[in-house]
Parts: sequence; C-alpha cells; structure tokens
Amino acid sequence: MTDDELVNEAMLARKMAYVPYSHHAVGAALLTKSGKVYRGCNIENAAFTPTNCAERTAVFKAVSEGEKDFEAIAIVGGPVNSEKLHICPPCGVCRQVLREFTNPKTFRVILGATDPAETKKMVLEDVLPYSFGPENMDFV
Ligand code: THU
Repeated sequence: MTDDELVNEAMLARKMAYVPYSHHAVGAALLTKSGKVYRGCNIENAAFTPTNCAERTAVFKAVSEGEKDFEAIAIVGGPVNSEKLHICPPCGVCRQVLREFTNPKTFRVILGATDPAETKKMVLEDVLPYSFGPENMDFV
C-alpha cells in the first residue's frame, strides 16, 4: 500500500464522518504491519465531550479486532460536503492513543492535503516528543 493509497482510504473514511456541530469532517486510515487498513471518522455528540476523533475511531476498531501492530496512519480533514482538505494534524489525545501501540520513532503519520504535493509526512515522535508510553510503566 502506497502513502497515496492510504490517503485515499482516509478520504473514503471521511465520507462517514458524523459532524452536525463542527461541520469539520475528518477521516483516518490506519495501516497494520500485516497490510490491513482500518478506517475511522470523527463521530460527534450533542453533549460535545463524548465526541470521538477519526484517529481514535480507527485505533479502537483495530485493537478491538485484535490488531495492535501498526505501520502508519493517514489523516485528512476539511469542511463537510466539500472536497477541500485542510492539513489536519492529530490532536493531543489521539497522539497519546497512537503512542500506546506504536514505536514513535518509526510509526509514520501522513497528513493529506487537497494538492497531493502538499502532503506532510512525519513520524509520531515529531509531533509527540519525549512521550510517556507503556515502557514507562514497567515498575508496576
Ligand atoms: N478531530 C478529529 O477527528 N481528529 C483530530 O485529530 C482533530 C479533531 C475532530 C473532532 C471534532 O469532531 C472536529 O474534528 C472538530 O474538532
């Protein structure tokens, strides 16, 4: 699966976003090391706080199906009912959720843009440096 194909999967995921409050539709596509893709969209709530981001939807779908080895995630976001995309970096909570299951030095984050030439690529550590993860709990 190429990065462009993974961004395309995120675009398909974005079509399912439930965003009656922000109107900001986000899609994520999480690639496992075995080559499977889990799609996620943001799912909002009238009480606001229970809203789930696209990235976490994808992670929770995968983990609940027994997948915990991840290679990369593609994320796209922009106004609902529009093809226009804004660069959509993962929020702090989603960064921490991704951190739980990945090596931040190697797990890749791909931020899709309307113009594919403006796609941004990084590893999780770039957006979550000096992070807290499971190995910091090994005193338990
Ligand atoms: N959102 C995501 O789905 N992912 C992010 O990383 C940033 C924010 C969603 C949450 C909410 O539904 C909307 O975008 C506006 O914050």
